[in-house]
Amino acid sequence: MKVLVTGGAGYIGSITAEVLLAEGHEVIVFDNLSQGHRAAVPDDAVWVQGDLSEPSAIRRAMMAHRPEAVMHFAAKSLVGDSIVRPFAYLRDNVVEGLNLIEACVDSGVQRFILSSTANLFGAPGNAVIDEKAPIAPGSPYGESKWTLERALDWVSQTHDMRYAILRYFNAAGASAQRGEHHVPETHLIPLVLQVAAGQRDCMTVFGDDYDTPDGTCIRDYIHVLDLAAAHLLALGAIETDNCTYHLGNGGGFSVRQVIETARTVTGRRIPEAIGQRRPGDPPRLVANSDKIRRELGWQPQFGELEQIVSSAWQWHQAFPKGYEG
Ligand SMILES: NC(=O)c1ccc[n+]([C@@H]2O[C@H](COP(=O)([O-])OP(=O)(O)OC[C@H]3O[C@@H](n4cnc5c(N)ncnc54)[C@H](O)[C@@H]3O)[C@@H](O)[C@H]2O)c1
Repeated sequence: MKVLVTGGAGYIGSITAEVLLAEGHEVIVFDNLSQGHRAAVPDDAVWVQGDLSEPSAIRRAMMAHRPEAVMHFAAKSLVGDSIVRPFAYLRDNVVEGLNLIEACVDSGVQRFILSSTANLFGAPGNAVIDEKAPIAPGSPYGESKWTLERALDWVSQTHDMRYAILRYFNAAGASAQRGEHHVPETHLIPLVLQVAAGQRDCMTVFGDDYDTPDGTCIRDYIHVLDLAAAHLLALGAIETDNCTYHLGNGGGFSVRQVIETARTVTGRRIPEAIGQRRPGDPPRLVANSDKIRRELGWQPQFGELEQIVSSAWQWHQAFPKGYEG
């Protein structure tokens, strides 16, 4: 299938593009490089530098390349930043997503896969979160994803379009060639590995007095290759119906477990300091992914924390400056 991948120069989009190509699909990457890296785009993908804020740029790409499906990874996705700059998320993420959805309708693209987020569940309590959990976005970022989920549902009721919404918890890990390189980096595993590599002095743990076994927050990490595999399954599933799935490991690991695992994997010292809790950080955010396992047979291949951290460390050692090396 011909798949247009927005945000395909970013972390998850570039690795999903790599997996799509390996499975024999054609890929068109559409990215404005506001966050991503040209070097992350696989050589076999068609490259289009364009901005989703410009409907004419999207239409040109659609007309030139005639995709049969769209995977929409492009977004601003920093939760904290969205609290400081709500309009950049409530307006830009939503308008840019709507521009893309409308261009799909106008050019007859009937399959749409949206990257959504665990931030739809701002204060989830202690339960493992399944697709029936009440939606209560934790930030303007989460709200922008929820708005796009709703928009897609309306468009599928009014037009010939089917969608898959994939709500990821925390993507992590790397393929051999591609990994996580955000500027600024806010994600735990790359930050811990930067400390291990001597690129940062110390790892700050934001609170160790949460109601969890070791007092640090628990998050659900999913290997980016398992995430990419879920996208390929979803591409098949939307031949017949819409679907929404949660993607995580279902267990969750604490910040302290991640740091300990990184010490074991890297064999390096990783000094840590305890900082203040961050506002809005829930103690535990863990996905129930039974639905996608049951309905699509999705089975994570790299579910162990050690596998996730090892793959990220291997990539970090091969590309110490990420895509700027
Ligand atoms: N990384 C995670 O753990 C995580 C968790 C949940 C959801 N998500 C969602 O998954 C998606 C991908 O995340 P990521 O970590 O790969 O992000 P990323 O920042 O690495 O990639 C996003 C890409 O989109 C591009 N982009 C942004 N705005 C654009 C625009 N207007 N036009 C064209 N391109 C644009 C950027 O240049 C970048 O290459 C995002 O939608 C994010 O909200 C990520």
